[in-house]
Amino acid sequence: MSDPDAAALRMFGLDGRVAIVTGASSGLGASVARALAAFGARVAVVARRQDRLDGLAEEIGGLAVACDLSDSDRIGSVVPAVVEGLGPPEILVNAAGTMVNSERAESEPLEGVRRTLDLNLLAPLLLAQAAFPHMCAVGRGSVVNVSSISGRVGIPGIPQASYAASKAGLSGLTAELAVQWARHSIRVNTVAPGFFRSEITGPLYASERATEYLRRNTPLPREGSPDDIVGAVLWLAGDAGSYVTGQTVVVDGGWTAR
Ligand SMILES: NC(=O)c1ccc[n+]([C@@H]2O[C@H](COP(=O)([O-])OP(=O)(O)OC[C@H]3O[C@@H](n4cnc5c(N)ncnc54)[C@H](OP(=O)(O)O)[C@@H]3O)[C@@H](O)[C@H]2O)c1
Repeated sequence: MSDPDAAALRMFGLDGRVAIVTGASSGLGASVARALAAFGARVAVVARRQDRLDGLAEEIGGLAVACDLSDSDRIGSVVPAVVEGLGPPEILVNAAGTMVNSERAESEPLEGVRRTLDLNLLAPLLLAQAAFPHMCAVGRGSVVNVSSISGRVGIPGIPQASYAASKAGLSGLTAELAVQWARHSIRVNTVAPGFFRSEITGPLYASERATEYLRRNTPLPREGSPDDIVGAVLWLAGDAGSYVTGQTVVVDGGWTAR
């Protein structure tokens, strides 16, 4: 009989692989960075808050790369810094995200729409483009984007048109990159979480009415957390997901199954 620990390690182990995780200064990105490191990856953590990144990089033995990813002129510095500090990246997890506007669609300010699209949709594309030649050189790669259930369904009562558009855009980008890059053994997938507590959703969870609304609309009888999402990212990042590409995997406690 084979050793189940050894089999799990073969599927999920990431020994020596270099990973980039954006949005790693808090929330889901920080959880993903810790999980990838726990499975053996050397992880570059990317966001704006240098102090948070330094602390996490020290904790997991990784590399902190501070960058405002909504500034397309500065994104070009990220991958070269990772290559220099850790080596060529094989895994890219695009978890940085924001919801700038909370107005109804008919009055969303253009500036906020642009900032949302720049960070949530353009940055993942630019980072994937920058990682592409290194993944080709290594002979394999896995890109995991983080979208949202709001890229798939409307969320009554919580206006988020540009956010939803950016997240739906990630699924289209995912399918297209997956098809174009499959010949290089680069897989591209998206994980679409449902609601969980984080800095983005802090104001929402501060309201008992909103929390009750989320509870009512989530079939599983408990709140989600970043740890509930990390498993899907790990699966897609490593060999356990080696025949999965172009997919959007929804992890939402059943919200979109209703
Ligand atoms: N929480 C939810 O219910 C939920 C549901 C579905 C999908 N998501 C998605 O999950 C991902 C993680 O979000 P979260 O909930 O964990 O929220 P979070 O704790 O607020 O994390 C957002 C991350 O993005 C980074 N970020 C924001 N603006 C940035 C910029 N201009 N440049 C670089 N990094 C930037 C933040 O770091 P800095 O501020 O240090 O830059 C932070 O690390 C996002 O893509 C979000 O859309 C969340």
